Amino acid sequence: MPEEKHEIRHFVVAMTGASGSVYGLKLVSELLRAGERVNLILTSAGCQVLYHEVGLDWSADIKEQRHEVQEYFASIAVDCLAIDDFWAGAASGSAAADAMIIIPCSMGTAGRIAAGLSGNLLERAADVMLKERRPLVLVSRETPFNTIPLENLLRLSRAGAVVLPAMPGFYHGPEKIEDLVDFVVGKVLDQLDVQHSLFERWGEDRG
Ligand SMILES: Cc1cc2nc3c(=O)[nH]c(=O)nc-3n(C[C@H](O)[C@H](O)[C@H](O)COP(=O)(O)O)c2cc1C
Repeated sequence: MPEEKHEIRHFVVAMTGASGSVYGLKLVSELLRAGERVNLILTSAGCQVLYHEVGLDWSADIKEQRHEVQEYFASIAVDCLAIDDFWAGAASGSAAADAMIIIPCSMGTAGRIAAGLSGNLLERAADVMLKERRPLVLVSRETPFNTIPLENLLRLSRAGAVVLPAMPGFYHGPEKIEDLVDFVVGKVLDQLDVQHSLFERWGEDRG
């Protein structure tokens, strides 16, 4: 039997200054493991939170950031895009990615996308996904929500985005933090139609 050819897909992953940088790192690892291509965008606050929570300093210029990121993931299938680079393919509908995931997604970024500001590459790329009717997944993180982010997230959902809060379930018997991270990232991969084994599906253990 001839082996089925894997068509490589292109994902834009953006990490903002919401808490939960580990979710973004794990998602990129999983996409690369699945043989996909990733463009990574970090906001300035995203870099600060990443350093605070994980100890990775990716705040240098884009050339150095690319080097650090490719070394961290041991892959050249991941590339970094500068947040102010409106010349990147992700900024245009003619070169839109297969899907974009903002993970973790701050309320600030969600609000700016909901307002259609397109003030940096992340916001513009998200706007492109919405206008081209392509998958845009927002892994939002804040608690509690006030009415403004709730309304912004509703607006984004109505515009076609998938709002997938970083809200792990506990019904799969997590034993460590990694299990909680895997649950959320697995839910994202389900949205992208990427196969994974990050959690056991409900009913699987019962045959
Ligand atoms: C340690 C740390 C944790 C934060 N966690 C959150 C969070 O969970 N959700 C959120 O909306 N903002 C959070 N913030 C605030 C954002 O980083 C801030 O609003 C920033 O302007 C977001 O910018 P960005 O959307 O361009 O990344 C956090 C900030 C810090 C320093």
